[in-house]
Amino acid sequence: MSVFRDDFLWGGACAANQFEGAWDVDGKGASVPDMCTNGSHTNPKWVTTGIRPDRLYPSHEAIDFYHHYEEDIALFSEMGFKTFRTSINWTRVFPNGWETEPNEKGLEFYDRVFDCCKKHGIEPLVTISHYELPYALVEKYNGWASRELIEFYMNYCKAIFERYKDKVKYWLTFNEINCGTMPMGAILETGTIKGFEGSTADVPDNKQERFQALHHQFVASAKAVKYAHDNYPQFKMGNMICFITSYPLTCDPADVIANQQKMQITNWFCSDVQVRGEYPSYMKRWFAENGITILQQPEDADILKEGTVDFYTFSYYMSNCITTHKDTEDVGGNIVAGKKNPYLKASDWGWQIDPIGLRYTLNEIYDRYHLPMMVVENGLGAYDVKSEDGKIHDSYRIDYLRQHIQQMAEAVKDGVDLMGYTPWGCIDLVSASTGEMAKRYGFIYVNKFDDGTGDLSREKKDSFYWYKKVIASNGKNLE
Ligand code: BG6
Repeated sequence: MSVFRDDFLWGGACAANQFEGAWDVDGKGASVPDMCTNGSHTNPKWVTTGIRPDRLYPSHEAIDFYHHYEEDIALFSEMGFKTFRTSINWTRVFPNGWETEPNEKGLEFYDRVFDCCKKHGIEPLVTISHYELPYALVEKYNGWASRELIEFYMNYCKAIFERYKDKVKYWLTFNEINCGTMPMGAILETGTIKGFEGSTADVPDNKQERFQALHHQFVASAKAVKYAHDNYPQFKMGNMICFITSYPLTCDPADVIANQQKMQITNWFCSDVQVRGEYPSYMKRWFAENGITILQQPEDADILKEGTVDFYTFSYYMSNCITTHKDTEDVGGNIVAGKKNPYLKASDWGWQIDPIGLRYTLNEIYDRYHLPMMVVENGLGAYDVKSEDGKIHDSYRIDYLRQHIQQMAEAVKDGVDLMGYTPWGCIDLVSASTGEMAKRYGFIYVNKFDDGTGDLSREKKDSFYWYKKVIASNGKNLE
């Protein structure tokens, strides 16, 4: 018998800005990623304040899911997907973010996508905001630094909730909301980059602004959850955290405390607010010591309490170490870097591969919140090279996924209530951190390259056939 529940939601995950393309089609406005150029592991992408004709903007075409969605969803169905996590691009519905009437053409596109999912028996899991803030809101309001955005976000939520109430049940309010605690979050999450043009490595770090912006997102998230609960009792509302598991590099108690503090600020802070409905005490001290003052309205405390989520979701790719000791080796990672763990190997992008860390993380989260959980991102970004037979034999990806699924099974045996698993980039798409196509995650290869060339044709990798067997056996057959 499988350890996973009978209705386990096997599937895959994507985000509108990284795969839809059609960035200015049918009335769509520009979102922040549409202002980001391509880059690579060694050459950071840029944010520009206008579209520069001499630069390449990978989101503009991406893999053109906008025009290939039927073919792509049919392939997901062939793998046996029970769910498909995607995001709605805010700028398809409200091109500038502040309109009061939604763009009908944008809404129609997602009708088509969700209807197609339904036709294949696939349950959509929708991220309301996945790094897709309307750029007009950056230019005019400095993104989430302004409280006005709460109202704009609510208008957006009301429009999509009402439109898709019979098509979508599972919603996530913000992708990786805790990314706002990290400097890169100014671009990806909070949009607090008004007037900034330059390399993503040089984005100015303004903690006060970022944490104030996060407060506005917490309030917006809680209001959306409450509104959904009041008006659409069939909805299940979740949060989404970028979980960067870290370990103390040594057993020096100073390292243990340093790691505990890192875990609190990076991983626990945002979900403590979204699950427990209030700011955790450790943040009050950290704010005081970092000279941060969060401006709150008198009603905010009640809003946060009333808008707690129904389930907890997170992304998990890698882990790293934290230390107070000098002369230790750095290592890369998702959004933030850390210290190298001598027991782990890393991907080509320097992300340390740690399947056991997933079991540890699932247990830690479940012990803390006792909510149903989903791993909504996980996977190996790798260079895929075609073999002589013209196929992609991605045994490295299969190994990575197999080991992580094995550890999920261990966590379920430990008692964790796991609802589903949607590996990231189930079809190749543009990398969020580097803006490149070369970093591929998919079960489905897309003929699209970093210089913008490629005929966009789709091909099945070995992992496609493997994942199909995994799903068919409810996670029992991992061979
Ligand atoms: C997550 C994001 O942090 O990691 C995704 O939610 C992103 O948008 C994914 O694509 C993988 O990161 P990257 O940088 O390899 O695309």
